[in-house]
Amino acid sequence: MAKTSEIPDALNEEYYQISADILGSFNKYRPPINIYRFVENVARVAPFYRKGGRLTNEQIEELAQMVNDGLVFVSREDHPVYVKHISYQLDLVLVDKNLKEREIADIFTQALTRRIGEFMEQPVKIVFDKLYSDLMVLTEYIFQDIHRIRALFRRLHTEHSLENHSFNSGVVGLNLFGSIKARDFEEGGVKRKMFDNLTLGLFLHDMGMTKVAKFLRDKTQALTQEERQKVTMHPKSGLDMLNKLEIKFPETLACVMEHHERLNRTGYPQKKGAEELSFEGKLCAVVDSFSAMITKRPYAEAMDQMKASATLTKDPTYDKKIADALQVMLVQLMKL
Ligand SMILES: [Fe+2]
Ligand SMILES: [Fe+2]
Repeated sequence: MAKTSEIPDALNEEYYQISADILGSFNKYRPPINIYRFVENVARVAPFYRKGGRLTNEQIEELAQMVNDGLVFVSREDHPVYVKHISYQLDLVLVDKNLKEREIADIFTQALTRRIGEFMEQPVKIVFDKLYSDLMVLTEYIFQDIHRIRALFRRLHTEHSLENHSFNSGVVGLNLFGSIKARDFEEGGVKRKMFDNLTLGLFLHDMGMTKVAKFLRDKTQALTQEERQKVTMHPKSGLDMLNKLEIKFPETLACVMEHHERLNRTGYPQKKGAEELSFEGKLCAVVDSFSAMITKRPYAEAMDQMKASATLTKDPTYDKKIADALQVMLVQLMKL
């Protein structure tokens, strides 16, 4: 293995050292990227393969040897190609040591938004399982260091769609949870299973919206009473879907069922009050409203993030501590 000290820093800016796992995940004969080899005596990279070409069996063998020695590089100009590629095999993120935090954040953003979209399009077990395993790659990655979730906050979508809203809610929710439970994370007091279940709930709180006709979801005018009734069914539809998928995690259920409940019993579907609502449900309510407010929707312009969180802190139907924590978190993120 080439020692990192032998690879000049400037080279790492322009090129990306590729691991055997990632190289192995590409088409063996026709990788879709230019490949460079590090030439030790001149401490520079030289082209080894051009995309569009074809590697011979001898070259493949040579490449396998070089990759084990840490001598194989790709240009960071090809970043979009491998972000897309790795986003289809998200677990590579966990084994690859060369990806930068921002590259990993791009990969998660692409992969999860796409997977959520697939599930919302076709909400069946086989599609759910793929999404679930990708979400578990995310929790594995951020549970090691909760601060890693911050890089995803910078990649929130600005346009509204069901998958964009779901992605945004998951990311905002995990940032907020990480900030509220910062001390517990430091002391190792957050249970992994609870964290996994909450993650699923935050990303999928609106899964029941798949049962609402698309024209109603996108309608720009005020809804009629009948239409409104259909939309307010979505938490209950979400619960039915979870039952069908045989998911009984309490934290996930709380997000799906309680994100439209309000502390003064004006919410839906159960008109629960402050003392009956779970922490996860109250967290998801703040996260859901905030995530909706900060994107451009069919019926409203995007609101500034600080303004949106200020609105929530002043609204007594939301948990004040959670809304305050959101505001503190935003200020901290701005300072970084
Ligand atoms: Fe909802
Ligand atoms: Fe929502």
